[in-house]
Amino acid sequence: GPSRGHKHFLHIDDWSGDELREVLRRAQEVKSNIKAGDRSFQPFKGKSMSMIFTKQSMRTRVSFETGFHLLGGHAVYLAPDDISIGKREATKDVARVLCRYNDILMARLYGHDDLIELAEHSAVPVVNGLTDYNHPCQIMADALTMIEECGSFEGKKLVYVGDGNNMVHSWLRIAAALPFEFVCVCPEGYDPDPETVKHAQDAGLSSITIARDPMEAVKGADVIYSDVWASMGQKEEALERERAFQGYQVNDAMMAQAGPNTKFMHCLPAERGREVTNSVMESENSIVFPQAENRMHAQNAIMLHCLGC
Ligand code: CP
Ligand code: NVA
Repeated sequence: GPSRGHKHFLHIDDWSGDELREVLRRAQEVKSNIKAGDRSFQPFKGKSMSMIFTKQSMRTRVSFETGFHLLGGHAVYLAPDDISIGKREATKDVARVLCRYNDILMARLYGHDDLIELAEHSAVPVVNGLTDYNHPCQIMADALTMIEECGSFEGKKLVYVGDGNNMVHSWLRIAAALPFEFVCVCPEGYDPDPETVKHAQDAGLSSITIARDPMEAVKGADVIYSDVWASMGQKEEALERERAFQGYQVNDAMMAQAGPNTKFMHCLPAERGREVTNSVMESENSIVFPQAENRMHAQNAIMLHCLGC
């Protein structure tokens, strides 16, 4: 694993609640400098990062590459066909080579075990840019967005409507480290991983509910959150899933049921007309674009923490 003072970021609760609060505070501080046009903070000067992708991306690729550059570093984008991790070359060999060039690695992969293997064999920190299991950078950006838009993250009620997927696993993992109210409302057969639910419940910090009735679950929510019904790697199940998720579309009626101040969030990309209507995406209460912007600021703070800067 990474040498002393260096940390991987593979799951949110790899870090303690206090560390996460500090990372979120740092994100706000570094964000306000960047937004004010101040480019004097260059902690990554002379540092480099490889970014390994086996899946598509807009936000993750551009926000990591731009954020690392804004803080003085150089990021190298490796598209799915460039190194063909695990195919052209064993994952553990990729790890052992890249960590001799780079100060930090970021990876977006299918199998979560492949990410764990990459981290096990890397002498520099590895940051999770999404796997089939989770997406911790997204949920840190989301917590930052709730601090800005709802006044706090802790204590708020977030209702996730849709598939019990990688996004839900990261919501459950943050619930094990910081206290809030999390409801995942999903159809039978699309529940999140039961061990991850138990792990979050056993931590005893947050209220965690798996529910089936969206119109009931969203009442009093500070945030309604949705994601695609068919994730990357599941697109051939799209039709079957569309049938299973009838009644789970976030529309004006669902937003009205939740309350006048309820915010709408979505990790993006969104399929308008499926999991969310165009009307909700474009509404006053939709905060999906500030949320997307915060990917960069949350990740900058994550990388600062990984590198001990
Ligand atoms: N939300 C998110 O991770 O977007 P990309 O797939 O475009 O990186
Ligand atoms: N659940 C989605 C998130 C995309 C950012 C997927 O894995 O495709």
